[in-house]
Amino acid sequence: PQGSTVADLADLLGINPNDIIKRLFLLGTPLTMTESMSDELIELVADDLGRDVKVMTKEEENSFTFYDDPKDLKPRPPVVTVMGHVDHGKTSLLDAIRHTGVAEGEAGGITQAIGASQVKINDRIITFIDTPGHETFTAMRARGAKVTDIVILIVAADDGVMPQTIESINHAKAAEVPIIVAVNKIDKPGADPTRVRQELTEYGIIPEEWGGQNMFVDISAKKHMGIDTLLESVLLEADVLELKANPDTFASGNVLEAKLDRGRGSVATLLVNRGTLHVGDAIVAGLSFGKIRAMIDPRGNNVTEAGPSYPVEVLGLQSVPMAGDEFRVFQDERDARSLADERALKARIEEQNKVKHVTLENLFTTM
Ligand code: GTP
Ligand code: MG
Repeated sequence: PQGSTVADLADLLGINPNDIIKRLFLLGTPLTMTESMSDELIELVADDLGRDVKVMTKEEENSFTFYDDPKDLKPRPPVVTVMGHVDHGKTSLLDAIRHTGVAEGEAGGITQAIGASQVKINDRIITFIDTPGHETFTAMRARGAKVTDIVILIVAADDGVMPQTIESINHAKAAEVPIIVAVNKIDKPGADPTRVRQELTEYGIIPEEWGGQNMFVDISAKKHMGIDTLLESVLLEADVLELKANPDTFASGNVLEAKLDRGRGSVATLLVNRGTLHVGDAIVAGLSFGKIRAMIDPRGNNVTEAGPSYPVEVLGLQSVPMAGDEFRVFQDERDARSLADERALKARIEEQNKVKHVTLENLFTTM
């Protein structure tokens, strides 16, 4: 990394630091063990020693894909998003599901403090993301964020496939996420679940009972019919996916939503992908840096840690990140701070360049 010292380089190359100090002296740049070297100097000295070293910026280091030893992977809960056309019953379904959670003995499960919720079915947890409207989902995907494992596509049986149903299918397909169809409002007089199945075949969503890949469950969110079957289907799908993550490492994941709260400052809902998040951790989320001051779980309780697939509301970021931003915990607070600074600076420069390119002409043509 940038700012590495003579000792760091010696460590990396597995050689005696004195050998490096000697080379540096010969190159006319005498340095001591603990002094940091410029990028060029590091690469030059390494080259001189017959080694190929490339200095990475904090940004490059950060974009390194995480590697986990398969033996460190542990099962994690599925993350589920409900999508569908306006008024087809997304909110009603989530409400019905939360009640189910309460019926299962989860006291206080009704309160939804953050933009995500969790239910426990037969000792297994399912995380539901309540937030993503289509725009958030698109924004997240554009940034390569894979926040959901399974999509529940809700289609009202009295209305059938509508424009946003198709949009939802496209989003789920682009993200390569399996789709479970919840045919809702089957309690209504005009309900025709078979027609919904037929219409969906046109979009490549074919029921298992017709030899296709998709589970279909007929439900009534309002009358609480079929909800248990739907949740069982989610767990079945999750079993097929064999969802796993390493919980014993520094946390990383995505921002689901974030806002500025008058009393509490920057408040961000984070979904952990990997590792475990702790109060006191130094994190970078998009352009923001911070030390986690407090964490609140979906039931509104303060918690001290959150593992893979757990959503938490986090206090302590110094600014407000964007939905879809990646977050990552750093061992060293200074590393976190300098990555956030580096990004913020880059963003400012890009912003300025944009402004420069606005001329009267293109200002008016874009208006
Ligand atoms: P948007 O958030 O606006 O996109 O809507 P939504 O998909 O969240 O739908 P919502 O849950 O708000 O439901 C829309 C309307 O349908 C409400 O009036 C619900 O009471 C009604 N509704 C939802 N599910 C059912 C159902 O199973 N049966 C009947 N009869 N009505 C339902
Ligand atoms: Mg709604």
